[in-house]
Amino acid sequence: MTRLFGVIGDPISHSLSPAMHNAALRAKHLDAVYAPFEVPRRWLAPMLRGLVLAGVEGLNVTVPLKEAAVPLMHRLDPAAQACGAVNTIVVRGGRLHGFNTDGVGFAQALRELGWRPGPVRAVILGAGGAARAVAWELGRAAGSRITIANRSRGRAVRLTRWLRRVRPQVGVGVAPLSQVPLQGATLLVNATTVGMSPRDGLLIPADALHHGLVVYDLVYHRTTRLVAEARRRGCVAANGLSMLLYQGAESFRLWWNRPAPLAVMRRALEQAIQA
Ligand SMILES: NC(=O)c1ccc[n+]([C@@H]2O[C@H](COP(=O)([O-])OP(=O)(O)OC[C@H]3O[C@@H](n4cnc5c(N)ncnc54)[C@H](OP(=O)(O)O)[C@@H]3O)[C@@H](O)[C@H]2O)c1
Repeated sequence: MTRLFGVIGDPISHSLSPAMHNAALRAKHLDAVYAPFEVPRRWLAPMLRGLVLAGVEGLNVTVPLKEAAVPLMHRLDPAAQACGAVNTIVVRGGRLHGFNTDGVGFAQALRELGWRPGPVRAVILGAGGAARAVAWELGRAAGSRITIANRSRGRAVRLTRWLRRVRPQVGVGVAPLSQVPLQGATLLVNATTVGMSPRDGLLIPADALHHGLVVYDLVYHRTTRLVAEARRRGCVAANGLSMLLYQGAESFRLWWNRPAPLAVMRRALEQAIQA
């Protein structure tokens, strides 16, 4: 029987995950489909029950349901537990196991840029859900220093309090967006939504982008101005497409217990973005 997987969110029609995962299923000759399901937040619990009853074996979870899904899981992996957000569900025997693969995806995307795991001096722009997953992942390395720069200071402070609790081995600071401390930093991550529109400018002065700085922009829709400017100034820089790919590959591995076909999935993502 054809096996069923999918992604839930609201809205969901823009999601690139169906293109990426259906390409992977085809490439691996798996008798399965991956469908988008629009799930309004207030209907999450009953719709999730319905999808499980209908035989769904695995789901991705996207905006605005990642946090709301947490209390509906029977088990959580450490990343989902710590971040308070689920982006992958594995269904086994009617029980829901929640994972968060965003951090793994981010780490893998950095490795693609030549990054080696270890202590880092990082500045993260943004303090939302994506910034949290990035901070959790970077916080693995004892001795790291992570500065959060966000438009609203209150949210940045909340994120740093959380980070000190879940990653006590790292140094944590807050900075205003107007004075982002990039001197001495080795990594800059944009985890804001700035860059999603082609009209968006830079959040930081371009001349702060110094040689030796690695720049990763979670926005995956295009080569953002930040990425273009960073490359122009000699930085290694990439947009968020690779993170999207690797978090999806990790979901695939969790569902199928085998490595994902990365090249096929990347091609599908690139084609879906251009469509
Ligand atoms: N590549 C991937 O796989 C991947 C995965 C997850 C997310 N993302 C991307 O990461 C980005 C953030 O996602 P999220 O889920 O963390 O969103 P979110 O929770 O809504 O957070 C949005 C962040 O952007 C900031 N922001 C919004 N507009 C701004 C502006 N005009 N100037 C300065 N800061 C602004 C917000 O600041 P305030 O707190 O002040 O509002 C907040 O820090 C999105 O572009 C998303 O597509 C990519």
